[in-house]
Amino acid sequence: MNVAIMGYGVVGSGVAEVLKKNHESILKKSMQSTLELKYILDIRDFPGDENESLIIKDFDTILHDESVGIVVETMGGLHPAFEFVSACLQAGKSVVSSNKELVAAKGDVLLRIAEEKNVSFLFEASVGGGIPIIRPLSQCLAANEIDEMYGILNGTTNFILTKMIDEGLDFDTVLRMAQENGYAEKDPTADVEGHDACRKICILASLVYGTHVYPDSVHTEGISKIDLADVEYAKNWGGVIKLIAQAKKVDENRLSAIVSPAFVPGSSQLANVHDVFNALLVRGNAVGDVVFYGRGAGKLPTASAIVADVIDCCQQDGTKKAYGWKSCEENIVVDYLDQNTALYIRAEAQAPQEALAAVRNTFGAVTVLTRKDAPETEIAFVTPVDTERALRTKLDTLHSVKPLSVLRIAEC
Ligand code: HSE
Repeated sequence: MNVAIMGYGVVGSGVAEVLKKNHESILKKSMQSTLELKYILDIRDFPGDENESLIIKDFDTILHDESVGIVVETMGGLHPAFEFVSACLQAGKSVVSSNKELVAAKGDVLLRIAEEKNVSFLFEASVGGGIPIIRPLSQCLAANEIDEMYGILNGTTNFILTKMIDEGLDFDTVLRMAQENGYAEKDPTADVEGHDACRKICILASLVYGTHVYPDSVHTEGISKIDLADVEYAKNWGGVIKLIAQAKKVDENRLSAIVSPAFVPGSSQLANVHDVFNALLVRGNAVGDVVFYGRGAGKLPTASAIVADVIDCCQQDGTKKAYGWKSCEENIVVDYLDQNTALYIRAEAQAPQEALAAVRNTFGAVTVLTRKDAPETEIAFVTPVDTERALRTKLDTLHSVKPLSVLRIAEC
């Protein structure tokens, strides 16, 4: 069996490295007589690279080579990844992808082609990097109804928030560190503004609830507006700020899904997920809470998940191994404003005591938060639980306060 890699960036080169480093044991587990890396497709040149002789620039070379049975897609982005992966599946080749943008946008279409062609389309590395999540969710927890999932699914933002919380470092410095370590996306906006985490929760929700959940249908907020003052208030409240991606079953046909920074109580297992680590808390109706934890980004952890999928494709040679979910005909994600939550609100108020009296009058029993060296005109509080729409409507009526920051309280 021959393998081709499309995209020789951080992750693609990690795949080549793992295939070479662990060749003997991988070959044994693959149950093939041979397992060779034959091509690496990339538009760039890699003079002096140990795999220079394998680099090609023409996708058709892979497509028309019948000896290539498995194609690893680590190009990222939607185009031309979608066209290349579709063509490979149509040609009867199995595909392993780490590309969450692709799976989140086109997973339903690609899974259908894989099924028609009786080949595998696997994407364990697309969520949680090296952490086994996709396979355990679809197989080991298959007996459960999954009531809800809460995830820290983006390593870059978790790394940034951890450094802000622990070391008081500024956002730009930490983002640069994440990029140097190869955690961040090519365009880090996808990390920082929550789009990467959104794609990942969409993949998990599609897998668990059986219908494609499109990223556009999920309300998404990033961490770029988080201020060190919010970090301090979260600490004094008894928790931390994390970028939480969540999906919950609302009823048989609908679910809620949202990605946003949130206050996470210190007692939650997710509060102790630091640096580039990712975690997913799954609440099943038979098993209870299960937490998956590990390195969610980086060259070798991601390559580890990809190569495991390659071995799986080899073992399934001749029979398909693809997950299944149907395309979505109408939006199944409910409006986040109709969901219950408590809100943390930091605001400016010229007359803080009067403003807090008005806050209590409007919201009822709020928890007032304080921090050292806060400006005299700053107030902060956590509201009781209500629908987000009701809470925001009440906030709009408070003319004596100017909101500076509004964050949700996560129930994980
Ligand atoms: N940029 C992603 C992250 C890479 O930081 O988690 C792994 O998907």
